[in-house]
Amino acid sequence: MKLADLVLPVCVVCGAFADGHGDEGTSAEIVYQWNIVEYEWPNDTLKQQEIENKAYIPQNSAINGIKLYKGKVYVTVPRLKPGVPSTLNVIIKAPAGSNGSSHLLRPFPNWEMQKLGNCEALQRVQSMEIDPNTGYMWIVDTGYISKMEDVDVQPVDSCPAKIIIYDLNTNQEVNRYVFPRMVIGFGLFYLNDIVLGYSENVARYAFLSDTLDYKLVVYDYKENTSYAYSHSNMRADEQYINITISNLTLTGIITGINGIAMSPDFKYIYYSSVAGVGLHQIETSVLTSANGNSAAFAAAVRTIGEKVSPGDGMAYGAKNNLYYSALGPNAIFKWDISKDLGSSGDFNAVPLISQSELVSDPRMQWVDTLALDDNGYLWFTTSRLNKFFSSEGIVHHEPNFFIWKIFVDDVHYLKGRQDVPTLGSQKTLASCFALIICACLQRFLTLT
Ligand SMILES: *[C@@H]1O[C@H](CO)[C@@H](O)[C@H](O)[C@H]1NC(C)=O
Ligand SMILES: *[C@@H]1O[C@H](CO)[C@@H](O)[C@H](O)[C@H]1NC(C)=O
Ligand SMILES: *[C@@H]1O[C@H](CO)[C@@H](O)[C@H](O)[C@H]1NC(C)=O
Ligand SMILES: *[C@@H]1O[C@H](CO)[C@@H](O)[C@H](O)[C@H]1NC(C)=O
Ligand SMILES: *[C@@H]1O[C@H](CO)[C@@H](O)[C@H](O)[C@H]1NC(C)=O
Repeated sequence: MKLADLVLPVCVVCGAFADGHGDEGTSAEIVYQWNIVEYEWPNDTLKQQEIENKAYIPQNSAINGIKLYKGKVYVTVPRLKPGVPSTLNVIIKAPAGSNGSSHLLRPFPNWEMQKLGNCEALQRVQSMEIDPNTGYMWIVDTGYISKMEDVDVQPVDSCPAKIIIYDLNTNQEVNRYVFPRMVIGFGLFYLNDIVLGYSENVARYAFLSDTLDYKLVVYDYKENTSYAYSHSNMRADEQYINITISNLTLTGIITGINGIAMSPDFKYIYYSSVAGVGLHQIETSVLTSANGNSAAFAAAVRTIGEKVSPGDGMAYGAKNNLYYSALGPNAIFKWDISKDLGSSGDFNAVPLISQSELVSDPRMQWVDTLALDDNGYLWFTTSRLNKFFSSEGIVHHEPNFFIWKIFVDDVHYLKGRQDVPTLGSQKTLASCFALIICACLQRFLTLT
């Protein structure tokens, strides 16, 4: 008997045991909230000065992206309107005795890197991914300076899109890659979501959604190259271009492919458009081998079903659950993939059927980005873009932006992936085996 044959049954036994004792929550907790997003400034004089010259317009910041590492919470404020002073931030407690919000956004890694108009700095960051095994943050910067306030208008004097890999443990930039215009830009473009793929035990690929040019972009770190795929199912679906959230209707949403998710074995990527309900699946091996050949993509992509409503972000947990934003119902839904796999266990045929509401709340307006932490919690932002983009905009006297968490007893898709048996040697197999036994024992001990 090969070692690999042993590992699987142990996993299954351990998994079944864990499931019987699940204590998954049904209510989410608000971790942070803001009426108006507030930043940590070097001093109040500078803050007042920036308000006066409109470099800081307080009601124009909406928190969108979120990722976690070693107890820190990183958030993005994409420059969707003018007057956003910092696009990538870490949340800190406000100093004692201060007058405003209990928590502030501290520009990350610093103020210098937020400088608008300096193409070396970050211009418009919607998303990042943090590799939990290395502490590398992959920061996606769509770039461009002009027409920040109007994402639907073609940028002119633009900074090119780039991806920066930043080591959170040593606070150093590890790599930066500027996308060629043939891959991202010319015309309309907006880099939205990112997932990573491992190869030979390290993160090698970044997969990105381009929401306004309707593309799935691949960045290959090892080869230092990039290419992109297009398909009609990445576009905005005419039927869903008007979205109503809590009595507010946004019309003419042209946002296409947005939320993307990676399976923990790195074999499949899932994606959806904001304006649309179809959930699509593509094999990662096609993406990494077809070098941007959209015909090869079209031959392999599969629409696996329809979500309950249009949505924004999604996250795939290591226990084979896909969590996703549901914009109309102010909710997060969960697709329990194991239930729909059936006895064949064939991911190439699995349909989207078993979707259930994980949580909903009238305050969860525009569930934006989802992230799993190290303790079984699913964190998410609600960015209230329905109100933010309405003619009235957000108002100061009520909470607009929330960061929530809910216990789901699930694990980040990248967690422990250096130990995926199929990629490693005998040595890796043995250590994986030991790891699983330990995890089983630990669970057994905590449950009894
Ligand atoms: C406020 O901070 C800015 C930026 O660090 C600095 O240039 C300025 O001198 C400071 N002003 C005061 C009054 O401390
Ligand atoms: C607290 O904030 C309010 C409203 O912005 C302001 O009127 C008041 O003076 C502030 N108090 C202190 C102690 O800063
Ligand atoms: C990777 O590609 C970028 C953009 O083409 C280039 O600027 C950079 O020098 C390359 N880096 C390496 C290490 O080859
Ligand atoms: C979306 O809203 C616009 C403006 O109100 C309207 O003209 C259009 O028919 C609507 N489309 C759909 C599919 O409901
Ligand atoms: C939506 O409008 C209806 C009718 O005016 C009202 O009863 C309801 O409270 C509103 N809901 C929200 C979430 O504002």
